[in-house]
Amino acid sequence: MSPKAVFWVPIALRSILILIGGGVVWALFGLLTAMLVIVALLLAMVIMQLLYLYKLANWLDNPQSTRLPDGWGAWTDIFSRLYRLRRDDEKNQAELSEWLARFRQAMHLLPDGVVIMDDVLFLEWCNPAAEQHLGLQHERDKGMRVTNLVRNPEFIDYIILGRYDQPLMLTQRERRLLVNVIPFENRRQILVTHDVTETDRIERMRRDFIANASHELRTPLTVIVGFLEIASAQPDLDTKTRNGHLKLMTEQANRMQSLVTDMLTLSRLESVEYSLRIERVNMHALSEQIAQDARALSAGRHQITLECDGPDVAGSLDELRSAFGNLASNAVRYTPDGGNILISWKGDERGAQFSVQDNGIGISYQHISRLTERFYRVDKGRSRDTQGTGLGLAIVKHVLIRHSAVLQISSEPGQGSRFSACFERKTIWHD
Ligand SMILES: Nc1ncnc2c1ncn2[C@@H]1O[C@H](COP(=O)(O)OP(=O)(O)O)[C@@H](O)[C@H]1O
Ligand SMILES: [Mg+2]
Repeated sequence: MSPKAVFWVPIALRSILILIGGGVVWALFGLLTAMLVIVALLLAMVIMQLLYLYKLANWLDNPQSTRLPDGWGAWTDIFSRLYRLRRDDEKNQAELSEWLARFRQAMHLLPDGVVIMDDVLFLEWCNPAAEQHLGLQHERDKGMRVTNLVRNPEFIDYIILGRYDQPLMLTQRERRLLVNVIPFENRRQILVTHDVTETDRIERMRRDFIANASHELRTPLTVIVGFLEIASAQPDLDTKTRNGHLKLMTEQANRMQSLVTDMLTLSRLESVEYSLRIERVNMHALSEQIAQDARALSAGRHQITLECDGPDVAGSLDELRSAFGNLASNAVRYTPDGGNILISWKGDERGAQFSVQDNGIGISYQHISRLTERFYRVDKGRSRDTQGTGLGLAIVKHVLIRHSAVLQISSEPGQGSRFSACFERKTIWHD
């Protein structure tokens, strides 16, 4: 049946029934009685309709699908249709609020700041990252002009001029922010802030590293080129002078070689793809070897002692050899002749420590925190004289980070230094 028929047919049937009933009463009891009965039945029908109208009005105050009353006659269809409409509506609303909650959560987790403003720059909404980046507070600042909230001349110029094809680089609360504005919906704009402090720092580090490395390489190269020029300008130099030049050139070439080797080691240690190859490192054998190498470098100029009673380590033998070798060679190189050097490997229930202690020149306090920076040296001349590259402790730091270990340095100028690599319990080899 069509919806119209569903509505009209029962009404027509009921009216016909009333008329037929009225006819029967007329035949049996006369016209007056029949009229009274028809009026009474019609009145009952009107009261019924009024009752359902009342129920409908009542339901509209709080239109939940579960509260919808059952119908009678044409009302059954009206109520069931209302029920379906309401249920679809409720479903859509539930979906919409779930989607909105998910969107809010995503916006909360987004590391980039998002600010929505209207065409006259009044703040409509912003996420927590934007609050942090720009010092906003959504609840407090809603409805205020963004250029009054972020009082930075560059920012204000950028927004007011509205040249959004280029992003703005902004320094705000010690952060470097990349700001983009995207107009949308004609009357609104989205402002996005991206924190580039870390990328900027890495970029600066990379630039410094290239500048330093070029500078380090240029010095020996200049020496070699100088001698080569002499050799070609004066082909008949005596053998003694020539050999002297060759010796100096070889020294400089070796210096360049160790620089390049150290730079390559460092870049390998830093690269994400180069993962740590864990093996059982026999610390007795390794410490013995480090002490022997140190004795060879010292050539009898120092008293070198080894104390070793720690456990084996789970790590990379090559990397640890390079790190510990650096600590030991530094001790030899920065301790005047006749000094004492103690190399030790000790373990307890908390972990283990590889230490190199010397009574050499020591380091004053202000330098200590910077020693592991690449190319940082307390005394450049002395480091070069002793074949230092300035990268040794940077390599040590990276190797230790890869082994979840830390470097502790204590030193006193004129008294000596102690460099300790402290390993956690989990790095110790367990059978
Ligand atoms: N045992 C030590 N005693 C005194 N100074 C040290 C010692 N070890 C390192 N240093 C200082 O730390 C600086 C950085 O060390 P490192 O990175 O190994 O570079 P280098 O190639 O100069 O040895 C050195 O130039 C030196 O000034
Ligand atoms: Mg060194």
